[in-house]
Amino acid sequence: MTARMKTMRAQFAGVGSYLPENLVTNDELAKTVDTSDAWIRERTGIRQRHLAAPHETCAFMATRAAEAALAQSGIAAADIGAIILATATPDQAFPATATRVQAALGAGGFAYDLSAACAGFVYALGMADSLIRSGAIRNAIVIGAEVYSRILDWNDRGTCVLFGDGAGAVVLRGVESDDAASPGVLSTHLHSDGSLGDILYVNGAVGRRDLPGHLVMNGREVFRHAVARMSEAIDEALAANNLARTDVDWMIPHQANRRIIDGIGKKLGLGENQVVITVDQHANTSAASIPLALAVAMADGRIKPGNLLLLVALGGGLTWASALVRL
Ligand code: UT7
Repeated sequence: MTARMKTMRAQFAGVGSYLPENLVTNDELAKTVDTSDAWIRERTGIRQRHLAAPHETCAFMATRAAEAALAQSGIAAADIGAIILATATPDQAFPATATRVQAALGAGGFAYDLSAACAGFVYALGMADSLIRSGAIRNAIVIGAEVYSRILDWNDRGTCVLFGDGAGAVVLRGVESDDAASPGVLSTHLHSDGSLGDILYVNGAVGRRDLPGHLVMNGREVFRHAVARMSEAIDEALAANNLARTDVDWMIPHQANRRIIDGIGKKLGLGENQVVITVDQHANTSAASIPLALAVAMADGRIKPGNLLLLVALGGGLTWASALVRL
């Protein structure tokens, strides 16, 4: 008789989100940008985006999302071992925005920001899962929070119409389990290719008065890599867990463009009722897009306990990543 090894698993214990109050439709945007609702909808699927007011900082939105996730989890802030905040738009170069969130929540443990652009949330989930599996910490908060409106060039219609602001958070609870089918993160798969850094980047940095930094993107090149790399990362995640495409209940992809999402869904043979889409409502919120989409689909009851979730994202770096999670 072989003894079964108990291992730590990171379970999704609570999900929360925050969206800025200012909702801007394509038609409203077309009053100040040389664009149209028809172009934006046809090329991207985006109908509207939320844009942050001055008080809706990265820390403010991240804190709101984390508070909601903590409340749902029933875990006390003091019992949090780590806060990992994925963002490309921190409020300051330092301290990390995550430490501002830690203070606002009265949380324990340690906190840091993680920079992996639109793949940031899945990267952060991978880091938190590793910390929990290793026994270093028990519970964590993983957050994606972005204020891209502050790094957009509002004179560049090729990029400024694509993005929105917001935050989403997941509280992870470490649970001992010897059952591979029990709830928790099954695996995460992280990749980057720095040689592609110049197809999507910010041409400056916080604190550089000469160059505060605007987002620059070669959309066609990013599009090409997005479908190919995310499809590979999905196959990798399924193979690592001996699962088939048909085992997936819901894919929650990064929300950059409806055409990219449809392309991946088609490759996977997933029906429309198996893919969560929020790009129409939120536009591209970078690291926040996956937890925001998760929050929407959990709140409306589409995603249920026991479901197998496939998360996948690609962003500047290039960075890309996938994760399989049993709810
Ligand atoms: O989140 C990180 C990952 N990011 C992504 O995954 C984004 C990937 N890329 C994309 O989603 C698409 O490439 C875009 C939506 C960014 C652009 O779509 P596209 O079909 O590649 O359009 P394009 O950039 O080639 O532009 C086509 C035309 C151009 O006009 P001409 O040169 O054909 O006359 C643009 O000037 O559309 C024009 N255009 C616009 N027209 C109205 C570009 N932006 C706009 C606009 N409104 N906002």
